[in-house]
Amino acid sequence: MRIDIISVIPDLMKSFFEHSICKRAQKNNLVEIHLHDLHDFSSKKHRQVDDYPFGGGAGMVLSPEPLSKAIESLQADRLYDEVIFFSPDGQTLQQNIVNGLANKTNMIFICGHYKGIDERIREKYVTQEISIGDYVLSGGELAAAVTADAIVRLIPGAIGDETSALTDSFQDGLLSAPVYTRPANFEGMEVPAVLLSGHDKKISEWRFEQSLSRTKQRRPDLLTNE
Ligand code: ADE
Repeated sequence: MRIDIISVIPDLMKSFFEHSICKRAQKNNLVEIHLHDLHDFSSKKHRQVDDYPFGGGAGMVLSPEPLSKAIESLQADRLYDEVIFFSPDGQTLQQNIVNGLANKTNMIFICGHYKGIDERIREKYVTQEISIGDYVLSGGELAAAVTADAIVRLIPGAIGDETSALTDSFQDGLLSAPVYTRPANFEGMEVPAVLLSGHDKKISEWRFEQSLSRTKQRRPDLLTNE
């Protein structure tokens, strides 16, 4: 898998991708993540990449030319399955969307900034728009990092324990059961005895019951949604 991220502030994401699971997945050649500075594709003085909105109004709009150049220079080298634009207008990111993206080979992520991007770029290139929630961020970088992280951890081999991504909250439509580690007694608070029993079947039944009751209590919507 390869993810190319186009941004006006690529450094915002640099350190994030150099750590943890994304770092290991890149080192093990499971994924390539390339950050691209939109300013490098500007033909204007001072590497300008934005302009005033036609019709007036507050804020600047990312110009079509540098975005088009950036996208086409990538598309000249390989086929991309998706060109994803991060915006509050997009479909809200859910585990099922992440699962779908984890099966793709090459993706371009476009991070918006200011008032947004010229609409013609959306029409010509964008195949999917993703929002990470009903709030407005200053740019798409955090959304791109969140989405890439959620995808990368699903690539087989990206996380140490192969089965662990499958037991994540949401992967089976339920929240996770509580987890404990040593000591078995912390300030008088005991770990549930079943977890110390060594009885695998009882432990998985207990975890399932806990998942279900936690989901009922905290996210009943997950049990009624399709
Ligand atoms: N850009 C600005 N706000 C955003 C959001 N909520 N999700 C994705 N991209 C965004």
